[in-house]
Amino acid sequence: MTSETIRWTRKDLLGIAELSPAEIGLLLDTAESFSEIGERPIKKVPTLRGKTVINLFFEASTRTRSSFEIAEKRLSADNINFSTSGSALEKGESLIDTALNLQAMAPDLVVIRHGSPGVPHMLARRLQAGVINAGDGAHEHPTQALLDAFTIRRHKGRLAGLRVAILGDIEHSRVVRSNIHLLTKMGATVVVGGARTLMPTAVEKLGVEVAYSLEDALRGADVVMMLRIQLERQGKMSFPSAKEYFRLFGLTRERLKLAQDDAIVMHPGPMNRGVEIASDVADGSRSVILEQVTHGVSVRMAVLYLLSGVTASEES
Ligand code: CP
Repeated sequence: MTSETIRWTRKDLLGIAELSPAEIGLLLDTAESFSEIGERPIKKVPTLRGKTVINLFFEASTRTRSSFEIAEKRLSADNINFSTSGSALEKGESLIDTALNLQAMAPDLVVIRHGSPGVPHMLARRLQAGVINAGDGAHEHPTQALLDAFTIRRHKGRLAGLRVAILGDIEHSRVVRSNIHLLTKMGATVVVGGARTLMPTAVEKLGVEVAYSLEDALRGADVVMMLRIQLERQGKMSFPSAKEYFRLFGLTRERLKLAQDDAIVMHPGPMNRGVEIASDVADGSRSVILEQVTHGVSVRMAVLYLLSGVTASEES
């Protein structure tokens, strides 16, 4: 089934795990159609005029929050940004009471990032507004996986048949979980690589190959995706020092030679330069790291548009 033959019917975007390949294709194709708006002198269309979006960020974010805000503004939605600091959460109001009060102001969509897995799902059950997961703990980060897939498609023309190496702190990463779901559903082979202490048990049950050396994981890869060491989610350091980690598991120009000659290098950010990736690789000719950020806006415009339920007749 191609994306032209399906319609988006979901109220929420909570994870990639529940999406079909056709839904993923529809999201990526819709993002493709929005991407040209970012190249116009006036980067604005009236598509979501009259719609209200609330951005609830309970965890730090640079890329995802800015990207959603820019996507909402480019689509002419009204948006407000909400964080713990300065809200009644500081007076002890619960998250669900906060959300129900915001719902009472009739938003159309709520974007939420939270440190606890499942919070977007809980809100989705209680709110009439569509809920978009902008990252929940170490569970899922669906719009990151979509923008990663969009970037890969732009460079490789496809996802099926590619070998994608995802390397680093696999245990604590929501990005890797969403990417594994998306890439395997779309026919790519995923190999996860890194230190045993940063590898979840039974990860192979997700349908991936597992390598415990960077060299084994990199061999023949079409796409190399590095992940940040997430010290804030580790109870204690899982390796002796940052220098030692870089020596064993850092992506260097020398190690990158093991991948395909035309392999691209990705990273969701924020990067720990000199820890999981050398600066000359991060800034090198194979790096598409800043392109990922650019494509994030188009992908989030597509998600907002499809979840808003705007029909062609409403657009005109
Ligand atoms: N990739 C990503 O989620 O970055 P931020 O934490 O800056 O949003």
